[in-house]
Amino acid sequence: MSIEVVGKPMDRVDGRLKVTGAAHYSAEFPMENLVHAVLIGSSITRGTITSIDTSVAQKSPGVIAIFTHLNAPKLKEMPLMTKGGAAAEVRIPLVDGNIYHHGQYIGVVVADTLERAIHAASLVSVAYDEQPFVTEMQRERAVMPKGAVGFRPADIARGNLEQGLAEAEVRVEETYTTPTENHNPIETHATTAVWSGDKLTVYDATQNTFGERKTLAIAFGIPEENVRVVCHFIGGAFGCKGGMWSHVPLAALAARSVGRPVKLVLTRQQMFTNVGHRAETEQQIILGAKRDGRLTAIAHKGISHSCEDAVGEFVEAFTIATHILYATPNLQTSQRVVKVNKGQPTFMRAPGEAPGTFALESAMDELAYKLNLDPIELRLRNYAETDPDTKLPWSSKSLKECYQLGAEKFGWSRRNPTPRSMRDGRYLIGMGMATATYPVYRFGASAVAKIMLDGSVVVQSGTHEMGTGTATVMAQVIADVLGVPVERVRFELGDTNLPNAPVSGASATVASVGSAVAGATKAARAKVLDIARADKRSPLYNIPETEIAFEDGQIFVKSDKVKSESYADILKRQNLNQVEANFDVKFDEENKKYSMHSFGAQFAEVRVDLDLGEVRVRRFVGAFGTGRVLNLKTARSQMIGGITMGLGMALFEETVTDHKFGRIVNPNLGEYHVPVNADVPAIEAYFVEEKDPHVNALGAKGVGEIGITGVAAAVANAVYHATGKRIRDLPITPDKLL
Ligand code: MOS
Repeated sequence: MSIEVVGKPMDRVDGRLKVTGAAHYSAEFPMENLVHAVLIGSSITRGTITSIDTSVAQKSPGVIAIFTHLNAPKLKEMPLMTKGGAAAEVRIPLVDGNIYHHGQYIGVVVADTLERAIHAASLVSVAYDEQPFVTEMQRERAVMPKGAVGFRPADIARGNLEQGLAEAEVRVEETYTTPTENHNPIETHATTAVWSGDKLTVYDATQNTFGERKTLAIAFGIPEENVRVVCHFIGGAFGCKGGMWSHVPLAALAARSVGRPVKLVLTRQQMFTNVGHRAETEQQIILGAKRDGRLTAIAHKGISHSCEDAVGEFVEAFTIATHILYATPNLQTSQRVVKVNKGQPTFMRAPGEAPGTFALESAMDELAYKLNLDPIELRLRNYAETDPDTKLPWSSKSLKECYQLGAEKFGWSRRNPTPRSMRDGRYLIGMGMATATYPVYRFGASAVAKIMLDGSVVVQSGTHEMGTGTATVMAQVIADVLGVPVERVRFELGDTNLPNAPVSGASATVASVGSAVAGATKAARAKVLDIARADKRSPLYNIPETEIAFEDGQIFVKSDKVKSESYADILKRQNLNQVEANFDVKFDEENKKYSMHSFGAQFAEVRVDLDLGEVRVRRFVGAFGTGRVLNLKTARSQMIGGITMGLGMALFEETVTDHKFGRIVNPNLGEYHVPVNADVPAIEAYFVEEKDPHVNALGAKGVGEIGITGVAAAVANAVYHATGKRIRDLPITPDKLL
């Protein structure tokens, strides 16, 4: 009998805590003497502050302190994520009176209540010397990025593009654009900072506890061990909580200066200005193909916006996926950035792949029509059996199976390929598909496992619960290693007092932390087993390890199950309170022998009302190959969430800037449309069976990000099929169809 719980669609271990309100988010740690901070944002887009008058605000009831660049203690330069830190921007907050974008923080008001702080902030009057600015992504201002483009150079070529295009019999050459988008987790960024002497504790909504600890230590010039970052739950993040934005050190600065704990929660409006966003892109794709559909060349070039150098740089790496998706011998990619007066862009769910697959997978659909080929067949004719860039074998790839399963579940064969040929009453019906893909990333991580005297188990690693189900999946892994019921297992996370964990980004948590957790648990199990095997009183005495199995909380001899005892029996006999083991996992990313990626296939059915230009997604099916699925329920939820966010990208989401004033005009959930229930059909997400012995000890690839990739293209392709209109500019709003 196997009691394996890995793979089971287990409910979340923290579900009850969440629905009863017992789960504490970063703004929910009650504490004595707590005061509230609010941030003042610049009302201009570029220039310098000529004066700040805080005298009226200072006298406002409840005000404790006001910090501006004139009086704030100076913070030290903080290391960026690319330099082992967590700082998202290079600019030190409140360092001077220079303004680089609208909403940039120019002051912090601390008061005894939130309302009094908000009111006082409104009384601060600021005079500026305004200077000209640019918020439009003007192509002619494009420059070479200073840093890497998704860890790679900005220009990459394989084969010979010109020759490949010369060999082509059919060509698609189009430009695709995607807008600025903002992360809108339910929980806005929130920081509660508490000092005790020169020791700082920060309760912060972060995907990067250890990166933040290091960065804050440097900012305040104190030893790393003097900083503790706690984050038990995150109410969604999608990448905006991966780097540390300036409100975090500002909260800590305010707390140290006023000598009281400070709570600072961003407003929904502030979520749009200073904590990153997905950059706008303009992408040109050229596909060259033979009549039979074989690609002779792919060119993928374009621009995205970034911020002024004084703030930092972020490149939306939309060309990465193009390198590995199809087996063309000739390829060229190139990216440039346009520096504008906006806050710094950042990672947002499948950064690069989400907009990149919109362009590439739309272009593939256009090519399929030109060739009169089924879009799946076109993709199969260009199927990459090995990584076309590195020529390495895949660690595993099930994309063919994904196309097949997705098509079958979706009913692709019912599709009449002719555009505008399918109707339902007055509606045009369209079916479209696209490929999904995301790399497998893995980072070093550590864990400690403790088997307790009562037979319960505690495993710890300072990783994060973003809502993805990390704690649940880890509990399943631990339970299976030990052969104990999952109820006896507790996984603790979200605290830098626990073993080191990497940023929870790049869909890498299960691969990274999961490997450390499995390693530590196996090591603790081995210790207990060694104790038993060395003890004459144990039924396991001298039994070879290979003869021993673990199930139902018992350790027993495979051939003679009567010879068994529990972890508790062994510890009791030795008078041990607990047996513990540490484990650090490292991955050799330099010398990988395999190319590691997840793949999937996305299928959309839309209904278009051409009188109104309205697109409704009626059905959506995704099929994915992501290695071993550790928890069918939480993994499926990730796919449904990713696809839902992809529907937002396809149809609704767009951060709109008024270029005359350089301000965002829709920084709220009323006017920045994320999909709501009424917009989302029944989404079906399937996993194909995929065994991958190479990615990590668990055989699991990440599931957080692949779900959003390809979705916008699948929808756009379905819209074309329904209407005969190709929309190459996201989101597909009614005005573009009329
Ligand atoms: Mo993800 S955009 O790496 O949090």
